Amino acid sequence: PPENPPPAQSDTSAKLVDDADHPWQAPGPDDMRGPCPGLNTLASHGYLPRSGIATPAQIINATMLGFNMDEQTAKFVTYAAFLVDGNPITNLMSIGGKSGLTGEDPPQPAIVGGLNTHSVFEGDASMTRADAFFGDNHNFNQTLWEEFVDFSNRYGAGKYNMTVAAELRFQRIQDSIATNPEFSFVSPRFITAYAESTFPVNFFIDGRQTDGQLDLDDALSFFRDMRFPSGFFRGPKPIGAEGSDELAAAHPVAPGANNGTVNSYTPDPTSADFSKFCLLYVNFVNQTVKGLYPNPTGILREALDRNLNFFHEFLNAPDCPQVFPWGQ
Ligand code: HEM
Ligand code: MG
Repeated sequence: PPENPPPAQSDTSAKLVDDADHPWQAPGPDDMRGPCPGLNTLASHGYLPRSGIATPAQIINATMLGFNMDEQTAKFVTYAAFLVDGNPITNLMSIGGKSGLTGEDPPQPAIVGGLNTHSVFEGDASMTRADAFFGDNHNFNQTLWEEFVDFSNRYGAGKYNMTVAAELRFQRIQDSIATNPEFSFVSPRFITAYAESTFPVNFFIDGRQTDGQLDLDDALSFFRDMRFPSGFFRGPKPIGAEGSDELAAAHPVAPGANNGTVNSYTPDPTSADFSKFCLLYVNFVNQTVKGLYPNPTGILREALDRNLNFFHEFLNAPDCPQVFPWGQ
């Protein structure tokens, strides 16, 4: 059913979010969890339905309330994910794998596979999840966690901070170039990879702390256990992917891909990068979304158009005109 995005929160102060109304519970066997430690945690505390099946408004509200994600980032990221991984008709999306609970599927080639779906939003060179090529792109990966710890020890004196983020981000790209013949690192993944590397600093540090240093026990609580550290306070102000540009600038990499063999990374000049943010939007709509929905009709078309309108609205780029993949 049609639904408008919710308003921003009126209270944006640091506050206890591991509270009595949101007790942690382990997910049950049918509950969906996936590649995003933020949303997994929100579901396991009941800020999202514990089933892991949610509407865009629920995801926007939960990320704002539970983590103080800023309104624009919460809405832009949510509609991006929803357009490619959610069910436009029922307005439901799985934060993990494909689920019957999102309702009857629209016609193929639409996938409606939830956030685990590879290469529409989820992508390669994640910090704590392996590349889809290796078979599991969504569960916590202990070996990768050990690399996260190693880099935090080497560059952050045992904490994860923005210096560690820059080094680990670059290392994960090098890992994938050297080991994954199908490594792909083009937009939107090119942009989201850097953004997500800032998220542990921007969201997983207790809101009463101001030093930008994430304790590794706290990091593990989010990444592996999908759980707020005991007594956790969300951050003191709305925030999004602040710091991404600096991470990218620390070790510049062009968007690109391996060519079917390892160590064959080739830049792709048609991909968006940080200097071509409008192109991220245009390619996402005209290639990714249109690829899934080549010719939608009726209520499906109406629902997609609504979500595309929201996606463009929260892109918040006045110089980037809206595009209409099926005409206006
Ligand atoms: C990764 C979706 C909000 C933290 C991801 C991924 C998806 C996703 C699909 C997998 C990308 C990949 O690594 O291949 C979303 C959506 C959100 C959202 C739709 C709605 C606003 C958040 C929030 C946080 C967060 C609020 C932090 C509190 C992370 C982190 C990763 C990630 C740290 C990287 C995991 C890793 O590299 O191991 N997210 N996310 N996300 N997300 Fe979210
Ligand atoms: Mg990934």
